[in-house]
Amino acid sequence: MNIPAKVKQEIAELRRHLEYHNRLYYTLDTPEIPDADYDALFDRLLELETKYDAVTPDSPTQRVGDKPLDQFEQVTHELAMLSLDKVFGEQDLRDFETRVLKRLDSEDRLEYSCEPKVDGVAVSLLYHDGVLQRAATRGDGITGEDITHNVRTINTIPLKLDGKKLNGRLEIRGEIFLGKDGFERLNRRAEKEGSKVFVNPRNTAAGAVRQLDSRKAARIPLQMYCYSVGIVDSIPLPNKLSEVFDLIGSWGLPTNPDRSTEQGIDGCLKYCLGLQEKRDALDYEIDGAVIKVNDLTTQQELGQNARTPRWAMAYKFPAEEKSTTVLDVEFQVGRTGTITPVARLDPVFVGGVTVSNTTLHNMDEIERLGLRIGDTVIVRRAGDVIPKVVKVLRPKKNKKAKAIKLPKACPACGSPIEKDGDVLYKCSAGIICPAQRKESIKHFASRTALDIEGLGDKLVEQLVDEELISNVDDIFALTSEQLIELERMGQKSADNLVAAIEKSKQTTLPRFLFALGIREVGDATAQALVAYYGDLVPIMDATAEDHEQVPDIGPIVARHIETFFSNKENRALIDKLISHGVNWPKVEKADTQALQGQTWVLTGTLEAMPRNEAKALLVAQGAKVAGSVSKNTDCVVAGPGAGSKRTKAEELGIKIIDEAEFLSFLDSLK
Ligand code: IVH
Repeated sequence: MNIPAKVKQEIAELRRHLEYHNRLYYTLDTPEIPDADYDALFDRLLELETKYDAVTPDSPTQRVGDKPLDQFEQVTHELAMLSLDKVFGEQDLRDFETRVLKRLDSEDRLEYSCEPKVDGVAVSLLYHDGVLQRAATRGDGITGEDITHNVRTINTIPLKLDGKKLNGRLEIRGEIFLGKDGFERLNRRAEKEGSKVFVNPRNTAAGAVRQLDSRKAARIPLQMYCYSVGIVDSIPLPNKLSEVFDLIGSWGLPTNPDRSTEQGIDGCLKYCLGLQEKRDALDYEIDGAVIKVNDLTTQQELGQNARTPRWAMAYKFPAEEKSTTVLDVEFQVGRTGTITPVARLDPVFVGGVTVSNTTLHNMDEIERLGLRIGDTVIVRRAGDVIPKVVKVLRPKKNKKAKAIKLPKACPACGSPIEKDGDVLYKCSAGIICPAQRKESIKHFASRTALDIEGLGDKLVEQLVDEELISNVDDIFALTSEQLIELERMGQKSADNLVAAIEKSKQTTLPRFLFALGIREVGDATAQALVAYYGDLVPIMDATAEDHEQVPDIGPIVARHIETFFSNKENRALIDKLISHGVNWPKVEKADTQALQGQTWVLTGTLEAMPRNEAKALLVAQGAKVAGSVSKNTDCVVAGPGAGSKRTKAEELGIKIIDEAEFLSFLDSLK
């Protein structure tokens, strides 16, 4: 098409402007114009390029899509995206090498590629003839989501590889992450603009790659380090992983500069310790190192378990600890009225997140720590575990410290506080207390319960404060007209929420039971109850003695369940929920439970599922899951890092299986 000279000039100018602002925004962190003005320039360029068919591959519009997607396409990984086994210390890493050498029937010293274990999101990039065709998340390893539109916005990922004869397909895998610097810049900006700050780099990166609107993803300065190759059609590659990294790096793919090739496990250990030393100085978050057999033929020979390769191991760093000050202690009222002391901390970055408050559990814990307001404390956080105050530093020296006192009345409703068991205190008001009401509604809407998308904690508080709801069943009477009256709620969000509430009515019985918020009935117990009784009515009508027959339910929980269902108000609530349309498919009760009467023990780390899920699956099959190994144990599932329980099982000659065997065993029961 013939493009008028004036238009040509405008296009060139717009591109120059956008590139200039991109640089200010992403590289220099000194944006000169508000986002809306940037969007206007971008939209104008897009309009002209479309109208005059004037797109060029290097145009700023080519990294960002023009319209948000409606949904993600599913992608099936031709070669499964594996996960990693992990160890936490020297001996376990040595054991890894022993296993590898045994399998290879060799005593030779092996060469390893050692790399930082970047804390981000695993992705697969598929290039056809050197051109980026598709990017996908790992998902469950087999099926991921197509995130090409977002990955195209990452400036350091080449849209076209800079190499010769790159014929056919080449799949590159790696970790997309947000650097510490980028994270801080984002949060400085968010603070300045008064918008919500991001919790940690990992979550921010994960959120960005899963944006339907690539323009939103483009605002997050994501990076990527490539760590392996998947499908390769016909491009010849070197036979050592370290050399593959050098080669793909020469094509423009970003590889980790902190990787290293090491000889033997001693070399790897030195690398791991060195990396741990410089962890804080790195510009990106890591949670350990990854050790991989460097020779690719040897990798193939070693093969894989169900979900993890036998030739690689993650060496996880120990929990991180930092010191900070306790600014204050507040008392929170939970769903069942329990009053919990929470420390407000001078914000500190530890284990990958900024921690500004943390639970102190109960008054006994405060006494045990000898904690007072104003004290300097050590906070520890590992992985996804809740941060914990582990120690008070120089307790005696702090003259200004103030004692922590349990309030006399409930901080939410002013009702008297009463003792609950040996260490806990609770508000005596029950469901009249607004804090308890809010917490039970939050619980009801949460992910593991009815999973009402969009009904988060803040909104629940707002709805209760505005008196639009006061109990869980009120949720189902909410209308879009009521919702738009709320501050910061648009028509679209209101409609979405009403639709999500409607959708949540179709649930499952374990979810429903869990959502009711019976004391100490978590999702595993809810599943065990359903597996045992098969329906709601028998659960409601059973006695505490009956409940004690359910695997893993003890006398205390049994009594909580009985008490809950003997309360008339609770029964009326269940009726109301059902009359609002909450329903679940009939439960197929297993006639025979494969593990009836057996006792199992779970130890070490499980990769594929959280431990409570594994436990629930066993319980559903009739097994009891015990915390320690004895001669009555039937089977031990031992993940990496298993220690004394595994040894004891070996001594007693009890069957031990790894997670892969456990998974295929569960499969065989289906
Ligand atoms: S290799 C076949 N290398 O860790 C092995 N993974 O816990 C596949 N990760 O899903 C992974 N840095 O997201 C490998 N240098 C690295 C890594 C790395 C981070 C992540 C990856 C993987 C997870 C496994």
